[in-house]
Parts: sequence; C-alpha cells; structure tokens
Amino acid sequence: MRVAVPYEIIPGETRVALVPDVVPQLLKIGHTVAIQAGAGARAGFPDDAYAAAGATIEPDARSLYAGSQMILKVQRPESSATADELAMIEAESVLIGLLQPAGDASLFKALADKRVIACSMELVPRTTRAQMMDALSSQSTVAGYKAVLMAANALQKFFPMLMTAAGTVKPARVLVIGAGVAGLQAIATARRIGAVVEAFDTRPVVKEQVQSLGATFVELPVDPHEAQDAGGYARELSEEHIKQEKALIHERAKLADVIITTALVPGRRAPVLVTADTVAAMKPGSVIVDLAGEQGGNCELTVPGETVVRHGVTILAPLHISSDLAYHASHMYSKNVAALVAHLTKDGKLNLDLNDDITSAVCITAGGEIRNAAIQQRLAGTTT
Ligand code: NAI
Repeated sequence: MRVAVPYEIIPGETRVALVPDVVPQLLKIGHTVAIQAGAGARAGFPDDAYAAAGATIEPDARSLYAGSQMILKVQRPESSATADELAMIEAESVLIGLLQPAGDASLFKALADKRVIACSMELVPRTTRAQMMDALSSQSTVAGYKAVLMAANALQKFFPMLMTAAGTVKPARVLVIGAGVAGLQAIATARRIGAVVEAFDTRPVVKEQVQSLGATFVELPVDPHEAQDAGGYARELSEEHIKQEKALIHERAKLADVIITTALVPGRRAPVLVTADTVAAMKPGSVIVDLAGEQGGNCELTVPGETVVRHGVTILAPLHISSDLAYHASHMYSKNVAALVAHLTKDGKLNLDLNDDITSAVCITAGGEIRNAAIQQRLAGTTT
C-alpha cells in the first residue's frame, strides 16, 4: 500500500505521525511511504532524513493524498477554507489517527459514506497484546513529564531541597491528582527534580505504584468496585464521594506549592475536584497545571488552552501539550502507529480481521458502516 503522512494543519499541532527512523519498518512489510514536504520539520525531522530512510517527498497535500491507500495522521482530518483533508482522502482508503471518537460524530458519517476504514488510536485496547500500539499511554507519558516542567517554570521556588551558605531551601510540595499513566509520570518527574510528592486517585489499586515512585498516597476509602470498571478504567463516583474527595483535596491543597491534575473518566466531562474555594485557600504564588483541560478541566477556574492567575495562583491548562515535546512525542506515536499498520496488513496488503479484538476495537468505520455503537447512538440522537 502507499502510506501517506501529511503535514498536520491544526494550529498548535507540531507532531508528525511517522518519523524517519520508523519508515524502514513499513518498507520492510511491503508498503511504500510518501511524506508531505515539511511534515516533520517542526518536530525536528527534516525532509532529507525521510528521503534517506526511503520515503518519497511530495510537494503538497494534493499530490500526497492522490493515489495513497493509507493515511497516517496525528489529528482528525480537518475541513477548512484553505484545506479540505476529508475531501482529499481517497474512497476506500485506510485512515489512522487520534480521531477523537468522543468528538463531532459527523466526521465518521462522512468517512463511512466514502467507505474509508477509519481507525482511532484512542480505541486501542489497554491489553498486553496491544501495548506497542497504545498511543494514549505514550502521549500521556509525554504530558505528565512536561506538566511538571511547566509547573517548575511557573513556580517562583526551587523544586529540590538546597543547603546553601545563604540558608536551607525547603523542597517544593507537589500534589498529583489522578495516578494513571500521566499522573505516574508526573510523580516520577517531580521526584526526580527533588519535590516532595503526594498523589491521589480513586482507584485503590494504584497505591502501590504511587508508593514505589517515592510519593505518599492520599487515601479516600472507596469500594474498588465503585472506583473502577472491569476494564481497569475509573468510574464516575457518587455525589457523596466526590464531596468527600473535594474536602480532602481542599486540605492537601493548602500545603501544596504545585498541583498537577490528570483525573479523567472515559466518555465523561472531567470531574471538577479543585474548587474555586480550594484555589483561594492555596498559598499565593502556587501553580496548578490542569491536564484535563481538553475534557473541561479538573479545576473550577481552569480556562482550557490558557494560563490565568486567580487568587494569586497561576492555573495552566495546556492543550496539545505533547506538541511541546514534539520530537519524542512523534517518535513514540510513530512506533504505536507502525505497530497498528503491521497488525492491519500482510505482505503490503490490507488484511482486516474484524473478529480480532484489537482491529474490532479501533476500527470505527468499515464497508460503508459505522461500527462503533457509541458513535452510532450519538448520530441517531439517542444519547448526548
Ligand atoms: P485516564 O487518563 O483515563 O485517567 C487518569 C486517572 O484519573 C486514572 O488513574 C483514574 O483512576 C483517575 N481518576 C478518575 N476519576 C478520578 C477522581 N474523581 N479522583 C481522582 N482520580 C480520578 O487513565 P489512563 O492513564 O488512561 O489509565 C487508564 C487505565 O488503563 C488504568 O487502569 C491503567 O492502569 C490502564 N492501563 C493499562 C495498560 C496496559 O495494560 N497495557 C497501559 C496503560 C494503562
């Protein structure tokens, strides 16, 4: 198949779906690779490096999409006045990307109408077999790391304890809310640069992981069955438990210099856990980095995509945070995507087995149909 890698056109997106190092993996399994000129430049991958790896460089999007049977993207295709990616994708081709299955469902209707096979990287199952393809984890690792650096940059204090001739500096206190992949990486990064870290998650199973990274686990007694579903994902807590949790966070927040929030519940708005009152009770000069901004935010005063100062506390809610570390974010994402391409093809041809659990989960549209039940329901207007 001719595999095409376009320049990402969404403002602020600087990642690329395939890096030069990973091109040979696709050539080896029988594909050819075409890259739009400049597609990797913002992430540190020049056209020359792609050409040296065996890819063809296409001068523009139109020549790239023409004749391509598979498109590898980071973001979902956009249709704007200047570029209509959706229109350029050829009928019956395969599209792989972070397609935002919970986003505007009309995209999937349009893709199904073109008989495109649309595969969403967010829907890769969190199983051992699919680990190589797990883009949510790779990009969350980047986000968790970068969030701590952003906090350290915004904080007017040292992170580590320092003993100097000018006196002893106390280490910064960091509170991490949500200890999934991003939260655990935030804990590890904050510890590495010397902070004292506390972490909190409603899933009691993460306690050991938090402690093994040298952080203290703040406990809220929740029945594990209320906190977590059979797939290991968090469930929405009862109103009573959320109230208790907010009170607990309020107390811990008063002591913190930095709060990093990462709490998400699949398919729901992010829970609001840091209230306006809690922000007001924090020390002036403290910093909150809200990684749940794209899902509405974990802090009541978050403005997604912006940095605001409220009650003397700086609140950052970066969107596309992985783009701030575009080189490694692209590298890891490429590995995830290439593993999925290898899974979906054989000897350079499409080999779609919809009975396979990974293929079935990621594949939102195939054969002109929408296969994903949640998207079908949203299109039919039976859910919000
Ligand atoms: P996520 O990004 O969906 O959520 C982040 C964290 O927020 C989770 O740990 C969740 O428990 C927590 N959270 C939700 N509501 C909360 C609340 N009210 N208060 C505090 N914390 C709250 O999670 P992520 O990182 O995508 O991981 C999801 C699951 O997938 C986890 O069970 C993880 O262990 C599992 N996983 C499995 C993998 C594998 O087996 N290959 C790889 C990566 C993750």
